[in-house]
Amino acid sequence: MELRCLWTACLCVAAAAAARWAPEPDQPFRIGDGWRSLGRLAPSEMLSLTFALRQQNVGRLTRLVQEVSSPDSAQYGRFLSLAQVQALVAPSSLALGTVHKWLELHGIRDCSAVSTMDFLQCQVSAGAAERLLPGAQFHRYVNGERSIARSPFPYTLNEELAEHIDFVGGLHRFPAERKVVSRAWTTQRALPRHGVLPTFHLGVTPAVVRQRYNLTDKDVGDSQNSSQACAQFLEQYFHEADLAEFMHLFGKGFPHRSSVDQVVGHQSRGSAGIEASLDVQYLMSTGANISTWVFSNAGRHESQEPFLQWLLLLSNVSALPWVHSVSYGDDEDSLSRAYMERVNVEFMKAAARGISILFASGDSGAGCRAISAGRHVFRPSFPASSPYVTTVGGTSFRNPFLVSAEVSDYISGGGFSNVFPMPSYQAAAVKHFLSLAPKLPPATYFNATGRAYPDLAALSDNYWVVSNRIPVPWISGTSASTPVVSGIIALINDRRLQHGRPPLGFLNPALYRLQDRGNSSALYDVTQGCHLSCLDATVEGQGFCAAPSWDPVTGWGTPNFPELLRALLG
Ligand SMILES: *[C@@H]1O[C@H](CO)[C@@H](O)[C@H](O)[C@H]1NC(C)=O
Ligand SMILES: *[C@@H]1O[C@H](CO)[C@@H](O)[C@H](O)[C@H]1NC(C)=O
Ligand SMILES: *[C@@H]1O[C@H](CO)[C@@H](O)[C@H](O)[C@H]1NC(C)=O
Ligand SMILES: *[C@@H]1O[C@H](CO)[C@@H](O)[C@H](O)[C@H]1NC(C)=O
Ligand SMILES: *[C@@H]1O[C@H](CO)[C@@H](O)[C@H](O)[C@H]1NC(C)=O
Repeated sequence: MELRCLWTACLCVAAAAAARWAPEPDQPFRIGDGWRSLGRLAPSEMLSLTFALRQQNVGRLTRLVQEVSSPDSAQYGRFLSLAQVQALVAPSSLALGTVHKWLELHGIRDCSAVSTMDFLQCQVSAGAAERLLPGAQFHRYVNGERSIARSPFPYTLNEELAEHIDFVGGLHRFPAERKVVSRAWTTQRALPRHGVLPTFHLGVTPAVVRQRYNLTDKDVGDSQNSSQACAQFLEQYFHEADLAEFMHLFGKGFPHRSSVDQVVGHQSRGSAGIEASLDVQYLMSTGANISTWVFSNAGRHESQEPFLQWLLLLSNVSALPWVHSVSYGDDEDSLSRAYMERVNVEFMKAAARGISILFASGDSGAGCRAISAGRHVFRPSFPASSPYVTTVGGTSFRNPFLVSAEVSDYISGGGFSNVFPMPSYQAAAVKHFLSLAPKLPPATYFNATGRAYPDLAALSDNYWVVSNRIPVPWISGTSASTPVVSGIIALINDRRLQHGRPPLGFLNPALYRLQDRGNSSALYDVTQGCHLSCLDATVEGQGFCAAPSWDPVTGWGTPNFPELLRALLG
């Protein structure tokens, strides 16, 4: 907050004559992969803008989240309703009045708000948008069937709006793309040169996951009030028929559901995507017999920022699933600080309501960014680096042909945020890692004072998925491990609800507290293997390595359901 005021002051001095303010001076403009420009929009063409209005009481919200999420606190589990969150954070009437007057002055009336009143989404003509946001100039970008309007130039706001708006969405950021990794190629390469491809192949199926994490056929949902969701922001369709086929092939041996209860968002016809299938098929395999929602945005030809759309939805629906599995991420350095800080507050709002949000840690290890000739740093990913989500890394079986101990998967995303300071719940765990790790990457590569991730992990290699009615092997990525862990958390919620207890909510304070005590068998500690970072094979080839207790490749390790349940049943 202080920093933001300081910047404002500097900018205001610099631009005193114009009395303008740039909310996101550090937001880079990068055309997303696969997008190309079709030139400037005509003034009458319509586009959609999202205004993030400044909230009140963010400090109180921060303390409240700490209290309701910490098992040591008297307020543990005393979550707020959406209406109570609204009463706490809704913008002041001055902020609302100023913003509405400003929009009206520019003839903008087609707007809708969310329940918490801190987001406003408006349909605006390009001409009006350019007058509203001096500096912005809207161009059309297309990618296949998709089309969006974006401004390659930064926008500014009237100075009087500086204290009322956090950022304006729909200008610079492109929808993030994320593809699952198929390891078929690497797996084949690793085989003996003259050998024939073996016809046997373990591959991860629901039975394998359930066996490894000690789920018996009794460990399925049994409470009407437990619920879970996965959110996908790709141009990928989710197909009920694939889920039914998957459960038919792989769902033997445990009671489960074969259909989702609610698909939220746009879904038109098209062929199914592997990632869209993966999430829901494995969420419903560990979180078996639990009511499941899918958030989807496939088929919106005028794509906005689908991730932002999901965030708005969280603030606009009072009865949401308790657990959300999200496989999505952007490089921290591709986003403005104002945007990330505000998204972080959105996660706090969800935490205050008792909602658990789990993000995939990413599939590029520590990542790699060139900062000057020959100089590199690691590249943290957001929202994986948010201190208010639970981040899930990846592992593989030490012996790929047996349900055996796990080692870290070299793709498992992990590292330290350059934006968010380390939250207190993980300080002891990370300090332990940093002081005992046998070989750390050079200190110039990462920021040891930042939020460290992931928090825990699960298998991320060699999954079977049904897509377009066909079983597909060798699917890999932390977008596989995240729904596996999310389903297990939903199952623990299910047992808590049956015992009349509130759901777990934001998990990290309880998770680190449990593990910090030592000799916990709630998670299998993964202690072997390193993840990748910069691609050339010198010193930069390697990021962090797994180690006893917490580490920035696999977090605390992978779930052992019966023990984790015992520890978290409360
Ligand atoms: C929020 O929900 C209300 C009521 O369902 C709806 O009218 C409004 O358009 C929604 N807001 C957004 C931004 O979608
Ligand atoms: C979990 O399963 C492993 C082997 O699959 C077994 O060694 C262990 O005892 C089990 N743990 C619990 C708590 O059931
Ligand atoms: C599945 O869940 C429902 C509640 O949603 C419960 O009534 C039913 O008994 C469960 N089935 C099994 C096999 O546990
Ligand atoms: C489920 O939730 C409803 C509404 O919140 C509540 O009235 C009911 O008692 C809950 N049922 C169980 C079994 O927890
Ligand atoms: C390191 O992280 C802290 C907060 O976690 C931040 O204030 C600082 O700017 C970061 N340093 C770099 C070099 O990014």
